[in-house]
Amino acid sequence: MICFGGSTCQTLAREVARRAGLVEGSMEVKDFPDGEMYVRVDTGVEGEDCVVIQSTSRPQGRNLFELLAVLETLKDLGAGKVSAVVPYYGYGRQDRRFMEGECITSKVIAEHVQLHCDEFYTVNVHKEAVMDFFRIPAHNLDAAAILGTYFKEMDLEDPIVVGPDMGAEEMAEKVGAILDCDWDCLEKKRLGPGQVEMKPKGVETAGKDIVIVDDIIDSGGTMLTALKTLKAKHASSVSIACIHPVLTGNIITRLYAAGARTVAATDTIPSQISEISVAPLIADALK
Ligand code: R5P
Repeated sequence: MICFGGSTCQTLAREVARRAGLVEGSMEVKDFPDGEMYVRVDTGVEGEDCVVIQSTSRPQGRNLFELLAVLETLKDLGAGKVSAVVPYYGYGRQDRRFMEGECITSKVIAEHVQLHCDEFYTVNVHKEAVMDFFRIPAHNLDAAAILGTYFKEMDLEDPIVVGPDMGAEEMAEKVGAILDCDWDCLEKKRLGPGQVEMKPKGVETAGKDIVIVDDIIDSGGTMLTALKTLKAKHASSVSIACIHPVLTGNIITRLYAAGARTVAATDTIPSQISEISVAPLIADALK
């Protein structure tokens, strides 16, 4: 199998190829001065199975088009089975019509990608329902264990894993199982008009090394509130990790300023905190 890394996933694709024993494909992707894209596949692909690894992260439209252009080129050049790996599925949060007339943008991506490939992989898509838009084999890989292993290697005295909301419950449970410790989620309690309290559902967090895990840090509002809540409840330390570092604004600085011990993420999107690699997960899936 020949592995091509799109412009969002160069390092990740190289590591996936190394781990899975794939041939590294070579291609040129550049933007013309007018903004249009040029794609040229340099490696011979006729009759060869190929995989393209490319996230549809910011700038989403450009990165999606690059993915489609490379997939289509491989098919056009006579490649065998073509797989797409989209480690971060941009638009994954719009999985249905929340208001009448809205575009289900995650469906638009699914419809277009599956026209140009035979199998699809992503990592912790925000809404599992998105996978139902695919009529080709489609896999949602789970990187929770990778986050767990990352924290296991840290020197945490008495850890507890916390999800910042109920949506992160399953992830908190999985990471807790790897760390062999308690886990919990924060829940919002309405105290009165305009007054909301956030607190762990059950476990005592005072004096503990807290690990907060979530799928996405975007504006970081969710993480910041969770961090401040747990600090106010006298956590000994608070370490933070997410799968997808979307990172809008200067949220990393703000999290450290609010007392985070560490803030880490995987490399589904390259960023200054993408120190945990999902390469083993993707490589295993492709083997
Ligand atoms: C929510 O359902 C997600 O799991 C994340 O908690 C959310 O997308 C994070 O967004 P933000 O960083 O903007 O609070």
